[in-house]
Formats: sequence, structure tokens, C-alpha cells
Amino acid sequence: MIETAPAKINLALHVRRRMPDGYHALETIFAFTADGDVLRASAAERLSLTISGPFSDGLETDDGNLVLRAARALGEACGFDPALAFHLEKNLPVASGIGGGSADAAAALRLLARRHAIDPADPRLAAVAAALGADVPACLHGRTVRGEARGDALHPIAAERLSGLPLLLVNPRLPLATGPVFKAWDGVDRGPLAEGDPLDAALAGRNDLQPPAIGLLPEIATVLDRLAAQPGVLLSRMSGSGATCFALFGSVDARDAADAGLAAAHPAWWRLATRLG
Ligand code: C5P
Repeated sequence: MIETAPAKINLALHVRRRMPDGYHALETIFAFTADGDVLRASAAERLSLTISGPFSDGLETDDGNLVLRAARALGEACGFDPALAFHLEKNLPVASGIGGGSADAAAALRLLARRHAIDPADPRLAAVAAALGADVPACLHGRTVRGEARGDALHPIAAERLSGLPLLLVNPRLPLATGPVFKAWDGVDRGPLAEGDPLDAALAGRNDLQPPAIGLLPEIATVLDRLAAQPGVLLSRMSGSGATCFALFGSVDARDAADAGLAAAHPAWWRLATRLG
């Protein structure tokens, strides 16, 4: 069995307030890429995980990995033994604002739901996803969606104008943990994310985690400057808590020209030329 774990992009991310439990109330538009990590599974006597790929170094393959935690949690909630040998091809940088472990966990949930004929609308699936992390419900949904509360209250949106748009992801190859970025947010509510067409809302919106992330990792400002300067860019911004930044382009040629130019000027940066799903 095979399941893609697309990268998650926050086209805009408005942080509205800090909640008593330390989490933040936010408004965001989640979108997903055509490419990402790849999760494979085959029948086995017991649950296990191996990892390969360009970003596999240092990842845990024991109980701490979200793929295994997701499999165990769904097995417990639905009464089955998740005896599968998982193999994760880790193509996306970790701790980088594009879903990472959340996308992999969601792929494991989708795969197990298929295998055990669990309805995608089954509330047990949603409950397990929400308990695994704030972004897991959106990653489980896997299509453009508006997120509120912790990012886990999902509201479907019509995304025809976004579908298939050429996209370039760029990361300075420096990890950035999510918690400290939220902690460094200045607490100022800069207003709601517009409703309606998600491209228009994203264009009029912002990522409130960009300034605190740049404070922790100034290289992000350089990535953003370079992306904004590329011909044919419709929107460029940081995703999530960073450090990955993205640019949407009006054409594949413009995206590929930007990709080639950045490869030459900044060979150390990670890039993925893809499109929105
Ligand atoms: O839920 P998840 O484990 O993915 O969140 C990682 C961290 O990001 C949390 O521990 C919290 O510090 C921060 N976070 C937040 N508000 C959110 C989502 C995440 O403060 N809405």
C-alpha cells in the first residue's frame, strides 16, 4: 500500500491570541503540494518503521515517530492490530513549517483507514488526528481548507483558482522548532483573515509568525527577499512557523526560471519545484 504525504503550505496565517493552554488561536489557509514524502506499508507480524530519503538522518524510528503513534492510536480507537511494516521516504525537510511529521501521520491514518474500511468521515479518525497535533486534521483532509482555533477547526473553501498553480518551496536548510516561534510572537492581534476566495484572502493576508521566525533565524529574510524578486511571482511568503518559504507563480516557465536562478545563486538552499494539488 502506498500513500503520498504532501507538504502543507500556509498561504496565510493570522495569529489572533494566546490561549490559556499555551496554544494560539489562529486563522489560516492550508494548501497542499502535488509532491511530498511517500509512505509505503506491507503486511507484517508486528508494527515497524524504516526511513530512507534525503531527510531521513536523525529521525526516530521508535515509538516517538508520529507514523507509529498514529497507527497505534487508530488501532486502539477502532479495535484493530496495526501490524504493518511501514517505510517512509523522507523527501521534505523536517522542522520546517510544511507539515513534516503531521503529513506523515495523516498519510498513515489514510492508509490504515483504507485497509480497515474506515469511512473518511468516521469521527474516530478525526479525534485521533486532532490528538496527534494541531496540523494533523488539515493534513488528513489533504485539500485546500481554512483552519481556525488551533488550526484544527476546518472549514471547506472553494479553491479552483489555486488548484495546479506552479509553486516553488525554498528552505535555507536550517531547522526551526515550532514552539519557540509561537512563543516569540509579540501578542499583537493584527486582524482577521478575509473570508471568500482563498487566493484573494491569501494575497490580502500575512503570516504573523514571519517576524518572530526571522528574529530567530535571520536567513529567512534573505530567502523571502530572493523569492519576492523573482519575475512572475503571484505571492511569496513563509509557511507555518518556518523556515520554509514559498512562491506561487503565474506560469511553469517563471517558476522553473526562478528555481534555476536560485540553484545557481544559493546552492546550499533546499528547493522543490512543484504545484499546488
Ligand atoms: O500541535 P503541535 O504539536 O503540532 O504543535 C507544536 C507546537 O506549536 C505546540 O507545542 C505549540 O507550542 C505551538 N502551537 C501553538 N498554537 C497552535 C499550534 C501550535 O502555540 N495553534
